[in-house]
Amino acid sequence: MTTLEQFIITRQQEREGSGAFSKILRDLGLAGKLLSFYLRRASLSGLLGELGLTNIQGESVQKLDHLANTLLIRLLSQNPHVAGLASEEEEHILPANPEGKYVVLLDPLDGSSNIDTGVPVGTIFSIYRRISPLGTPCSEADFLQGGRAQVAAGYILYGTSTLLFYTTGEGVHGFTLEPAAGEFFLTYPHVEMPPKSTYYSFNDNQLHEWEPSLQRYVADLHTRNRTSAKPQSLRYVGSLVADFHRNLLKGGLFMYPGTVQKPEGKLRLLYEGYPMAFLAEQAGAKATNGRQALLDVPPSKIHQRTPLFIGPAEEIDRIHTFLNTNVPVETL
Ligand code: AHG
Ligand code: MN
Ligand code: MN
Repeated sequence: MTTLEQFIITRQQEREGSGAFSKILRDLGLAGKLLSFYLRRASLSGLLGELGLTNIQGESVQKLDHLANTLLIRLLSQNPHVAGLASEEEEHILPANPEGKYVVLLDPLDGSSNIDTGVPVGTIFSIYRRISPLGTPCSEADFLQGGRAQVAAGYILYGTSTLLFYTTGEGVHGFTLEPAAGEFFLTYPHVEMPPKSTYYSFNDNQLHEWEPSLQRYVADLHTRNRTSAKPQSLRYVGSLVADFHRNLLKGGLFMYPGTVQKPEGKLRLLYEGYPMAFLAEQAGAKATNGRQALLDVPPSKIHQRTPLFIGPAEEIDRIHTFLNTNVPVETL
């Protein structure tokens, strides 16, 4: 029985870290416990529905989006090691403690469209070591270092149980919240995504707007399914955290491509793309924007969007073969 707290402290001692970074992870765990508590009571506490505001992404803010954002920002900005925060829900970066060594990026509540229906939602986070001088307010450059500069990334999934999965570049480790004890316990050490795709997860309502080569990939997927002894099944929740999590444990492809009119897609590079890509690579899987590894895509602005293809290497490589050549389906 190892708690998240014990796990973090042991690793910190092994690395002879100062404990700064461990304290940020602990605060994220605390936020996860509190949000789990609020989400379970949301319909009893009048916390469902829209707040009546639109966020920087042009999306309607749900009451719980607002609560998650406020809670995480308040908690983390009190942490002396946090130099600043960036959130999907906030237009600008939020400088916190000039003496802090790290910056934190957040998708406070992922899967907003599912909140009112009791379907799993999540929180996505990533942490970078600041590059601006200690003692000064953090700057946007601290948040725009690129995916390979992440020192940690993870998510909290509020589902049938509350799970916290994270990586610091030494594999992916998962914890389950025991609500009675108020503790996360290590339940998934060293997670590896199975190399075979069991599931595929994408919203095909804009399939006709996708690049023809990607439409051919989908045709190929269906063709393989007709002849395969183990056809892949469709599973799509509409909360990236939930979809990615299932695919991480079972083996599966998630994609959210761009369209001809909107080639950058929907998902956000910094708050959703990079953290999931870091986890995927650490779990032996791949994440790309359809052209290159997502972690190598340079960011230019904090709210940048990106197409996302994430899953077993074999399936991602196959998509690339389609996207980067004009090979007709029947010759593959
Ligand atoms: P968010 O709720 O943080 O804005 O993210 C929603 C995202 C992601 O969680 C999910 O994969 C995707 O939107 C679903 O989009 P569609 O409804 O277009 O399928
Ligand atoms: Mn999201
Ligand atoms: Mn969100």
